[in-house]
Amino acid sequence: MQKTNLKNHDLIITEDGSQSAFSKTYGENFHNTTGAASETLAHYVEGCKIVERAQEQEDFRILEVGLGLGVGVEKTYEAVKDLNCNIHFTTLEIDEELVLHLKETNTLFSDLEKQGDDYVGVVGSFHLRILLGDARERVKECMKNINAIYQDAFSPKRNATLWTTEWFKDLYELSADDCIMSTYSSSSSIRKSMLAAGWKIKKGIKFGKKRSSTRAYMTGESDSDIIEHLERSPAITLTDENAKDYHL
Ligand SMILES: C[S@@+](CC[C@H](N)C(=O)[O-])C[C@H]1O[C@@H](n2cnc3c(N)ncnc32)[C@H](O)[C@@H]1O
Repeated sequence: MQKTNLKNHDLIITEDGSQSAFSKTYGENFHNTTGAASETLAHYVEGCKIVERAQEQEDFRILEVGLGLGVGVEKTYEAVKDLNCNIHFTTLEIDEELVLHLKETNTLFSDLEKQGDDYVGVVGSFHLRILLGDARERVKECMKNINAIYQDAFSPKRNATLWTTEWFKDLYELSADDCIMSTYSSSSSIRKSMLAAGWKIKKGIKFGKKRSSTRAYMTGESDSDIIEHLERSPAITLTDENAKDYHL
């Protein structure tokens, strides 16, 4: 285990050689142990079709739920840095020690400046903003017309408030018509709460030991086999009210 100033996290190396962390606060790893970098590319950069869509636009807005170790930021930056497009990448994070760690250890973050409760920085046409604090509050100050959402909170059992119908409604209201929201989770409860918030849902790729994942859209039709499965499933639709009882 690498020595750092992190108090709330242990760093780990995943099977593709990339770094991830275990959160002592939430009792969970940041990424699938198969690979932090490969999971991020598969679910978020490719899952949200970032390069194909950003290269067609002057401005492209990405919201990440959970900065974590900055893997989402880094893999996105590497994918888009040569495109002729302004990328506005906003990420929500509750634990400031992660930002301070990244400022010390990763050149992409070293010039970030603190402005009130935010950290901001620009590298070329990549505009990064970290909104510090509880995502449920900070999302109210977030940019509008979002084109892609990386829904990368901890699992619903550990981080239930970031998977409720009310949360997905807030995200829906901030999104552009072409928004793709992607997540590693395929839980029936979170799919039900996305549907209740107005999102259309489709099956995402299998990654590591997980059999499926979820992609959500503002328009179009949900996969009919998912809808049929959810109609038969006893899983609850997560709401702010029942999320309190959902935690492990
Ligand atoms: C699975 S990790 C994200 C991994 C990250 N996307 C990466 O690429 O490294 C989830 C992150 O969400 C943050 N988080 C958990 N609850 C939060 C909340 N209520 N508001 C903001 N951030 C939160 C955690 O501190 C953690 O860094």
